[in-house]
Amino acid sequence: MPDVAARYREVFGQTGPVRVVHGPGRVNLIGEHTDYNGGFVMPMALEASVRIALYPHQEPVVRLWSEQFAERAEFSLAGEGPLEPPDEPPHWLRYPMKVAEVLAEARVPLYGFNGVVEGDVPVGSGLSSSAAYEVAAALAFLVASKPDLPAGPAQAAAEAHGLTTGRLAQLCQAAEHRVGVRCGIMDQFISLHGRRGHAIILDCRDLSYEAVPLPTDRAKVVIIDSAVRRKLTSGAYNERRSQCEEGAGRLRKFDPDIKDLRDVSLDLFRAHEESLPQVVRRRCRHVITEDARVEESAAALKAGNLERFGRLMGDSHDSLRDDYEVSGPELDLLVQMARGVPGVLGSRLTGAGFGGCTVTLARPEAVEPLRRAVLAQYPQQTGLQPRIWVSDAADGAAVDV
Ligand code: GLA
Repeated sequence: MPDVAARYREVFGQTGPVRVVHGPGRVNLIGEHTDYNGGFVMPMALEASVRIALYPHQEPVVRLWSEQFAERAEFSLAGEGPLEPPDEPPHWLRYPMKVAEVLAEARVPLYGFNGVVEGDVPVGSGLSSSAAYEVAAALAFLVASKPDLPAGPAQAAAEAHGLTTGRLAQLCQAAEHRVGVRCGIMDQFISLHGRRGHAIILDCRDLSYEAVPLPTDRAKVVIIDSAVRRKLTSGAYNERRSQCEEGAGRLRKFDPDIKDLRDVSLDLFRAHEESLPQVVRRRCRHVITEDARVEESAAALKAGNLERFGRLMGDSHDSLRDDYEVSGPELDLLVQMARGVPGVLGSRLTGAGFGGCTVTLARPEAVEPLRRAVLAQYPQQTGLQPRIWVSDAADGAAVDV
């Protein structure tokens, strides 16, 4: 992992001590497209993260160097209303700009800084590089306005500004909405609340959560990047979200207490599904059954029943493929290959879909055979080079230095 503080000194030619913050990416074990329906998810934070090395200064300007895009850009914090740099900003600059906007609206004082952004969460791969970036940017602002803030978990930095990490997650989510994706709360929340060795079961309505240990001696979490990059995601993603809202709206006729699809029981859905247009019906069926799968998975994990957990992961994939229609031939192929390897407990696409990664739960002894099978067959059948790695669950975002 490159030393982001050393890069800062090279880029900005400064020798003094710099601050370093990071926000991790995430992989979601189960509970896909449920978060914006008020439902349940079970992600874990990754060791891969977005890191920012920064040094605060007196001018109301944020000057950033993106290591990934090898590009320098800046924006001004002065003035009222939406922040705009002089010209069309590079896409990567929009994230910290929107984070600055929402923090200012939440009355967090904003101070300028120079910073280097660097990370190892692959972009557009369904591992939440954007949430990791938003969270890291938010921490950078919290540190810049309180330079004597000690290193420590994000919680301390948030509390020093009178915020909770739940609120900070919501602010980062609002920033993502302004960039253009009407995402749920999962990614920003797990980036801030991850816990080493644990998955988090999150109720996306009231943000209550529970950390459940992952039995890493009995099963490994394998992430396989299909190398298919998401295209037109925001359009398809926002369309799914609208279809869910339409479904909840139509089903409300039968029970006025229905706020989101989370409130629709399987029984109510089955009794009235005929009243829904075909596509909306399928979208609703995915979300309603997926919420039930997360609850069942949580019970299975706590009981140590990994076989059951794995089967639920498989059902989740099938539902995302057939009812939610966010898979694709490459993701389906990876899941199918994994299913054929003895000792693989379950496999599914993870994140929004439309390309990106699969997540597989495998017995430790099945990891190498899985790797070999994928490397032997996937490039041949798709012309694409997959990336395969095992990740332990990591802690959430922090001020590191
Ligand atoms: C993206 C969004 C999340 C969530 C997932 C799908 O990662 O950012 O809020 O909706 O897709 O589960």
